[in-house]
Amino acid sequence: MAVPRENKTVKVPDKIPYHIAIIMDGNGRWAKKRLMPRTMGHRAGMAALKRVVKACVKFNIPILTVYAFSTENWKRPGEEVDYLMKLLVEFVNKELAELHEQNIRINVLGDYLQLPFECQMAIKKALHLTAGNSGMIFNIALNYGARLEIIKAVREIGRLVKEGKISPEDIDERLFADFLFTRGMPDPDLVIRTAGEMRVSNFLLWQIAYSEIWITDKLWPDFTEEDLLKAIDDYSRRERRFGGLIIKEKGEENA
Ligand code: IPE
Ligand code: IPE
Ligand code: MG
Repeated sequence: MAVPRENKTVKVPDKIPYHIAIIMDGNGRWAKKRLMPRTMGHRAGMAALKRVVKACVKFNIPILTVYAFSTENWKRPGEEVDYLMKLLVEFVNKELAELHEQNIRINVLGDYLQLPFECQMAIKKALHLTAGNSGMIFNIALNYGARLEIIKAVREIGRLVKEGKISPEDIDERLFADFLFTRGMPDPDLVIRTAGEMRVSNFLLWQIAYSEIWITDKLWPDFTEEDLLKAIDDYSRRERRFGGLIIKEKGEENA
């Protein structure tokens, strides 16, 4: 389904990111501010995620990646982890039909076979139903950790070398990237982190080598379409150099 880039209410900048990755942080603080249990923050976070997915489709973003559960989040109290797993199942059950209708292709980054059985089933259903969709790719990073992802890639490549299928000289950036969960996808252009923390928390360490980073103090459950637009607008005015130099119109290089 084609979605117009410009609509009546918002003006989307011309230079939009192809791939947006979001570290959805601040659910716990959002709940604490309201004297609510942390789980209620996660529930409100789920509503924010729904808004942002819709907004990305509206703005014609080809790939959206969200960090939903890290390999380090298992350190949290069992009750909170259980709730997050329950929310995931609920999200799939409630939203899958609409996501499918919007032609979204769901993809999971991370080892989801380590998740509770119910979650595995929900994920498999979502992957299977949306596999043939040609619209926005919606990557959900679940039980995801970038270091583990890199180690997994190194092991698989090491095995191929040992079996004599490739030689060490064949290993380059392109081959390596093919062993990551994001294989076949361009790296994120823009990484958004909510709740003000200035760190990457083991998120896409390989893939964000040259991503633009945008951090807001807004807590994830408060994040709106307007905030997303602010991030995109900021991105559209940035100058990306990838280590090189931008040759200006009159032929002068930047300092
Ligand atoms: C992000 O919110 C959601 C997950 C990590 C699953 P947090 O739960 O980290 O919220 P804060 O950082 O404690 O506020
Ligand atoms: C990052 O947030 C992980 C997710 C958003 C899923 P955390 O709240 O887990 O990160 P730290 O602990 O503040 O670095
Ligand atoms: Mg946090």
